[in-house]
Amino acid sequence: MPSLPLLLLLLLWSSGAHGFPAGTSETQERDVQMVQKYLENYYNLKSDGKQVEKQRNRNPVVEKLKQMQKFFGLKVTGKPDAETLQVMKKPRCGVPDVAQFVLTQGNPRWERTNLTYRIENYTPDMARADVDHAIEKAFQLWSNASPLTFTRVFEGQADIMISFVRGDHRDNSPFDGPGGMLAHAFQPGPGLGGDAHFDEDEMWTNNFRNYNLYRVAAHELGHSLGLSHSTDIGALMYPSYIFSGDVQLSQDDIDGIQAIYGPSQNPTQPTGPQTPQVCDSKLTFDAITTIRGEVMFLKDRFYMRTNSFYPEVELNFISVFWPQLPNGLQAAYEVADRDEVRFFKGNKYWAVRGQNVLHGYPKDIYRSFGFPRNVKNIDAAVSAEDTGKTYFFVANKCWRYDEYKRSMDAGYPKMIAEEFPGIGNKVDAVFQKNGFFYFFRGTRQYKVDPGTKRILTLLKANSWFNCRKN
Ligand SMILES: *[C@@H]1O[C@H](CO)[C@@H](O)[C@H](O)[C@H]1NC(C)=O
Ligand SMILES: [Zn+2]
Ligand SMILES: [Zn+2]
Repeated sequence: MPSLPLLLLLLLWSSGAHGFPAGTSETQERDVQMVQKYLENYYNLKSDGKQVEKQRNRNPVVEKLKQMQKFFGLKVTGKPDAETLQVMKKPRCGVPDVAQFVLTQGNPRWERTNLTYRIENYTPDMARADVDHAIEKAFQLWSNASPLTFTRVFEGQADIMISFVRGDHRDNSPFDGPGGMLAHAFQPGPGLGGDAHFDEDEMWTNNFRNYNLYRVAAHELGHSLGLSHSTDIGALMYPSYIFSGDVQLSQDDIDGIQAIYGPSQNPTQPTGPQTPQVCDSKLTFDAITTIRGEVMFLKDRFYMRTNSFYPEVELNFISVFWPQLPNGLQAAYEVADRDEVRFFKGNKYWAVRGQNVLHGYPKDIYRSFGFPRNVKNIDAAVSAEDTGKTYFFVANKCWRYDEYKRSMDAGYPKMIAEEFPGIGNKVDAVFQKNGFFYFFRGTRQYKVDPGTKRILTLLKANSWFNCRKN
C-alpha cells in the first residue's frame, strides 16, 4: 500500500460535512488521493512524505492548495472544499501550473523561427486527414500571431514530434487513462524538447464531443513554443479543457507568444478577444438577467455571477452553461412565473429553463413579440414580475409587452427619456431585483423604482461584484 498522506487525510476529515456534501468515507479517501496526486502533478508537491516538516503552521499540502486556489481564482481557503475538488476533477493538460525548478530564466525559446514538425503516428479515433488538418490548423494559430513558420516533415527528427501514446510512455510523465490528463508537451529544446504527446486513452474528435483534437493541440503547441499556463480562463493556455466551439488565440495568448518571438510579420498585427476584468472600473455589460434568484451578467463570450466560492465573481464561458447559445448576446430577461429566461441576439431569441434551451428555438422577434421589421436587435429587456409587463429597449425607444396578453401594449414605442427620465437615451442592460430596476449604460448603473420611475441611486456598473474599490 502506498504511504497514506496522513496530513491531508486529517485535513479533509476535519473539514467535515461542509467540504463533502455527500461524502462517504470511500469517496473521501478517493478525493484525498486525487488531491494529493493533483498537487504532486501540477503544483510540485513532493510525494515522498519528507516534506512534512513541522514549520509553524506551514503544511505543504495547505500551501500548495492555496497556490492552486489562487491560480484558478478560487477563494483561498487552503482546504479542499467542494469547488476546489470540482476544479481538480476537470480534464486538463498534464503540464504543471507552476514551473518546476527550471534552469533558464524566463521563457525557454527556439533560436530559429523556421521550425519543423512531424506526426509520428495516428489515433484510430479519427480519420488521418482530420488529424493532419487539426494539427495544421493549430500550428497556423501560432504562426499567424508570430514570426514563426512550421514545415511538416515525414521522416527523421523534427523540432516538434507529435504522437499519440498511452500510460507510461517513458518520459517520466505517464498518462492516466481516460479523463484527467489529456496531453502534454515539452518546452523548446533538443530531443524531447518541443514534442507533444496526446493520451491515446482519450477519445479524440473533430467536433464538440470530448476531446476536440484541434483545441487540445492548439494548447499543447503553445507549450512546444515556450508558453506556460495562463490564469486567464479565456486564453488557450488556461490549463483546463474548455471547448467553446471556436478555437482562437486570445489577446493573452498573443501577448505571450509575441513576448517570446516578437510581433507577426503580417502588416496588420493580429488581435484576439480579451477576457473581461471583473474589477475593472471600465467594465460594461452586454446583457444582464436574473435566473432562479441569481443575477447573471453577460459580456462577449462570458457570463459572470457572484457566489461564495469565488472571492470576487465567477467568470466562465456562456457555452459552458448553455452550449447551444451564441456568444455576444445582446439582451436577456427572466419570466419567473414560467421559470424561463429569454436571450436575444439580432432578430432571434432563445428561451432556456435552467441549463436547457427549450425546443423550437431560436425564434424570431417579429412573430413572437410583434416588433416591426425595422427593429434589427434589442439592446436590453426586463420583465416586471408583479405586472407581467416586459420592457424592451431598442436604441432611444422602449416597447412594452404584456406577457399575459402576449401582445405589445398600445402607445409604444415611447422615447426612453420620456418613459424613464434621467437614465439617458440608450440602455446596455437592465434587470429587476427586489422590485427595483437596475439600468446599465456604459460604466454607469441606475437603480430605479419602476412604479414612480424615479432614479434612487447612481452606481458603478460592476457594483454587484465584491471588488475592493468601485
Ligand atoms: C532555417 O533557416 C536557416 C537560415 O536561413 C537555415 O540555415 C536552416 O537550415 C533552416 N532550417 C530549417 C529546418 O528549415
Ligand atoms: Zn498545458
Ligand atoms: Zn509524454
